[in-house]
Amino acid sequence: MVAKLLRAEGKSVAMRTRKNSILLLLIAILVFIIGKVIFRLDFLNGEKSMKKDTLLVAHRGLSASYPENGFAAFKAALKFADIIELDVHLTRDNVLVVIHDDTLDRTTDGRGKVADFTLKEIKDLDAGSWFGEEFSGERIPTLEEVLKFVKGKIKLNIEIKNIENENLNLKTVEECVRLVKKFDMVEDVIVSSFDHDILSHLKEIAPKFRIYLIFGKRNRHHFYNLIKQNELGSYIQKRQAEGVNIGILLLSSKIVEDLKKVGLKVGVYTINEQNVAQKFLKLGVNLIYSNAPDRLKI
Ligand code: G3P
Ligand code: MG
Repeated sequence: MVAKLLRAEGKSVAMRTRKNSILLLLIAILVFIIGKVIFRLDFLNGEKSMKKDTLLVAHRGLSASYPENGFAAFKAALKFADIIELDVHLTRDNVLVVIHDDTLDRTTDGRGKVADFTLKEIKDLDAGSWFGEEFSGERIPTLEEVLKFVKGKIKLNIEIKNIENENLNLKTVEECVRLVKKFDMVEDVIVSSFDHDILSHLKEIAPKFRIYLIFGKRNRHHFYNLIKQNELGSYIQKRQAEGVNIGILLLSSKIVEDLKKVGLKVGVYTINEQNVAQKFLKLGVNLIYSNAPDRLKI
């Protein structure tokens, strides 16, 4: 009799335990779904983070693993980054194409200046094989194609590359403004350049656009002069920029602090390691540019 009672008691304890486990599992699933759907948290795989003080920018797309500035790199970046950065140049027939260098040599099987080729000629080039045989057949995208693709999916940083021809630089700016307006994406785009005069022209013709000045190795003397004169912040503000993107070797905690104090946003490029990203996160930078946003948790 006692044995029977003990067996019955044992069974009901086991049932209660199972019920509790199922309940706990259901609660966990519910919390996961709420987190995923409502707060867009990614618990498992280090995708886009919730913390939006610092945004992760896929520099030339996910360019550590795919040919830079190409569609494969942009598609791969969607999952990990908040913004995609790309570089634009004007073709001979005035179409904006997405390529970093002013020549075709490094990233395509063509030779010569982008500005000397028509879009049709550029579209015939292979922009993937240089990176890996599996990417052969990749084409140089137009800015228009990329805008169409990213609209509603992710924000864009268009970097305007300048060349020696001042007239073409102005045309580049004007074409960029026309396209962004055409896709109704002024709110979703920031425009940056090492050429700060180009950006001032852009602000004149399209005051609502958000611009970021870039400082790096190539204009470091200008940068250090501004720092020496204690004029970096006022220079950026005079140009009506929302912020500034600074090469990692030029940036210090004091600069971040000073610029943020006057309400400017600060971006840093290019960071591919988590421990380095961590340091700049602590400094409170607003944008982290990375070739490998899939490797960073911010
Ligand atoms: O805006 C950051 C970065 O894109 C500037 O340098 O030469 O990679 O276009 P680069
Ligand atoms: Mg760039």
